[in-house]
Amino acid sequence: MTPPRKRTAGRIAVLRREAVVTTVPVAVAALLAAAGPAAAGTAAAGTAGAAGAGDPYFPLEGNGGYHVAHYDLSLRYDPHTRHLDGRATLTARATQRLTRFDLDLKGLKVTGVTVDHVKAAYRRDGQELVITPRTALRKGRTFRVAVDYGGTPGPVTDPDGSPDGWIPTDDGAFVAGEPQGAMTWFPANGHPEDKSSYDFSLTVPEGHTAVANGVYRGRHTAHGRTTFRWRQSEPMAAYLATATIGTFDVERYTTRDGIEVYNAVDPRAAAAAAPVLKKLPSVLAWESRLFGPYPFRAAGSIVDHAPDVGYALETQTRPVYDRAPALSTLVHENAHQWFGDSVSLTRWKDIWLNEGFATYAEWLYSEQHGGASAQQTFDALYARPASDGLWAYPPGDPGGPAHLFGTPVYARGAMTLHELRRAVGDRAFFRILRAWAAGHRHGHGTTAQFTALAERVSGRNVAGLLHTWLYEPGKPRRA
Ligand code: ARG
Ligand code: ZN
Repeated sequence: MTPPRKRTAGRIAVLRREAVVTTVPVAVAALLAAAGPAAAGTAAAGTAGAAGAGDPYFPLEGNGGYHVAHYDLSLRYDPHTRHLDGRATLTARATQRLTRFDLDLKGLKVTGVTVDHVKAAYRRDGQELVITPRTALRKGRTFRVAVDYGGTPGPVTDPDGSPDGWIPTDDGAFVAGEPQGAMTWFPANGHPEDKSSYDFSLTVPEGHTAVANGVYRGRHTAHGRTTFRWRQSEPMAAYLATATIGTFDVERYTTRDGIEVYNAVDPRAAAAAAPVLKKLPSVLAWESRLFGPYPFRAAGSIVDHAPDVGYALETQTRPVYDRAPALSTLVHENAHQWFGDSVSLTRWKDIWLNEGFATYAEWLYSEQHGGASAQQTFDALYARPASDGLWAYPPGDPGGPAHLFGTPVYARGAMTLHELRRAVGDRAFFRILRAWAAGHRHGHGTTAQFTALAERVSGRNVAGLLHTWLYEPGKPRRA
């Protein structure tokens, strides 16, 4: 195993080029808060859905006033022209009376919107697609929105400088939406607070493969085009959706636990990926012993050749890798299936609940497979001087969206869990991890809830320790 720093840097190239915190999102958040939901309204003040979910890191991500139960995404993509044509049909429920509501969609051209099969008025406002149905939707009502759209999708650049969303490659597209890229390829209620089931129908030129989340439902070729169908039946945050396209070698099998595995591998990465992918069933079985039952019916990997992306993403059921992954990366992305995917964030600020846990899974894997112990990994990190970037900010409060995927979130986040483990002992610690995964399965969790659970399960007062490691600036002193 390589030392922790290299492992992490290899997975997330952005660590090396963290940008300065931008103050713009905070300013927008303040504006939105001051304006309130009614201010954006016209005659129908108070019945317009909010333009964002209220997350200060990404104020316009997500939308208020409704919940999406299901997305049906029917897409056609031509890797040569890079043109995308899509129809998104959303089944949603109004959580308030709605005279109008927003979806997130950046770029692309909308050619028509219907609400319950009736043409609706719409306009674009930055990343907001503002829809006004012919008649108001009463609170509690289930409704169906269909959006026809198309164009040449491309990525957004995140505050940390990395590309995110629909990222064209030389033979297709690498599609990864954390934290804000979903809106680059489908109209969404794009904050992780809103989770939904998905159906995908992806049409690509014959010879290409289009891989999404969940269970593979078959393919069909006609007139030189192949349509791939996928179903993600468990709830999923929009950022975890993928529709990665390329020329892939495909492997399918079912594990002993009945999990349907689908691996798609770019032939250029095949030789390097094979020995790592071979371990997927044993990694999932090992993680299931530690964290509780695997949360989904399907699993797998998408190994693309996308050297400029610089990271892998835990796309639900089927992580997407920009190159042949290291074993530690496979362990990391699959640990996210429990921590991050099944148990989702309610606010991006809590990102350590994803990255700290997935990183600690790497440490545990090493410890139990003949590598460095978690204590050794901890000690090597703790030895870094107070001036090191590891201590630049506390993981529970990264200070802005530019720092979401920085070393303190990953490494000090994992150190936090290690200190918790030392304080409560292995038995209680692993009970806490399993209770967290089980209690919030297919739902959401906050740092405050995790702290309360850790105290409840262990019967110990660990709130102070967690507070020190998660929120206090500078290098924490050890108890
Ligand atoms: N969650 C990914 C991981 O497993 C990292 C995603 C980084 N994304 C980004 N836009 N910088 O570590
Ligand atoms: Zn991660």
